[in-house]
Amino acid sequence: MDEPIYLDHHATTPLDRRVLEKMLPYFTEIYGNPSSIDHLHGNKAKVAVDGARQTIAKHLGCRKENEIIFTSGATEANNLALIGAFRKYRDKGKHLIASAIEHPAVLDTLKALEREGAEVTLLPVDSHGVVDLEALRNAIRKETILISVMFANNEIGTIQPIAQIGELAKAKGILFHVDAAQAVGHEPIHVYDMNIDLLSFSAHKFYGPKGVGGLFVRSFAPMVRLEAVTFGGGQERNLRPGSLNVPGIVGMAEALSFAATEQKAERKRLEQLSATITDALQTAFPDVKINGHPERKLTHNLNLTIPGVEAKALIHVLKSKLSFSAGSACSTTKVEPSHVLKAMGLSDDETFQTIRLGLGRSTQDAQGLAHLLIEGIGQVRR
Ligand SMILES: Cc1ncc(COP(=O)(O)O)c(C=O)c1O
Repeated sequence: MDEPIYLDHHATTPLDRRVLEKMLPYFTEIYGNPSSIDHLHGNKAKVAVDGARQTIAKHLGCRKENEIIFTSGATEANNLALIGAFRKYRDKGKHLIASAIEHPAVLDTLKALEREGAEVTLLPVDSHGVVDLEALRNAIRKETILISVMFANNEIGTIQPIAQIGELAKAKGILFHVDAAQAVGHEPIHVYDMNIDLLSFSAHKFYGPKGVGGLFVRSFAPMVRLEAVTFGGGQERNLRPGSLNVPGIVGMAEALSFAATEQKAERKRLEQLSATITDALQTAFPDVKINGHPERKLTHNLNLTIPGVEAKALIHVLKSKLSFSAGSACSTTKVEPSHVLKAMGLSDDETFQTIRLGLGRSTQDAQGLAHLLIEGIGQVRR
């Protein structure tokens, strides 16, 4: 039997085979520790890591390559950015602002910081999932030290007005952290042009390997300082000690280069595929609702509320043909309504009738996909 078609590219993407080829020698031949700079084996690995750092820094618009700190992914980068900044700047103020629709890697870290004395304001979003800039202006206090707003949302794909928020944060002298896990490799990003101080990213969201990511830490106007949250051998400017994942880092840089080069054409292609799928679905079922911003969104995201159709039931009937997720977040013990959809004003029932399709490089036949979905929806409704 054929594998189901993969439509969950927000959760993770497959490793690009060209990237795998580039990584392979770093498992078996160039295996030195890049911190062992006294010998050739270590030096070869260091050259590879330095090259990867340069490539990533260039693609993100950094001024210096050492503004990139390698981590195990976006979760760790978010933890380092938020905890590290709070502990460094808490004497200046204890107030932090974030959007209500951040990923748990931000929201749960902020909860942990509240236990250390932080005061957190969560900003509302409109019905498209866009952060309310007026609410942001009103939330800023004398003691506000950091604003954290994601670049693009992992459920609905809405892209936030990052440059505008960056300008506001800069004018007020407040640090601006951006969780760009869903955007790096998919959307053009320039950290300096957008006045971003800290930016988190993760390779497995752009066809790179799992378990590797990074944090941009601005070093010019202002120079951002962080307290380390883990301790050890001093790697990554003492901010993220531990032996580096050389194959992963090499793969991440290679994946980002491919993604950046192919980004424009791929976005256009995915936009057309999304439009074909939604047109077909809405022709068959006019009550299907598309969530997220109509224009400012990731082109590979399709978040749909289908009245009367439980997402879990649809996933079940299509299991052998399609792999996709429900719009609501699941924990191991209970299913909870998505905090993102709730913040946009959906009812609990609507959140459970919402699915997330994450298209990707392997997505081809939009009409065929729409046909399968229409069949599945019909079956659940009957
Ligand atoms: C917006 C966002 N932030 C953070 C993460 C966590 O990334 P990682 O898997 O690299 O820890 C994800 C992954 O789902 C995400 O979508």
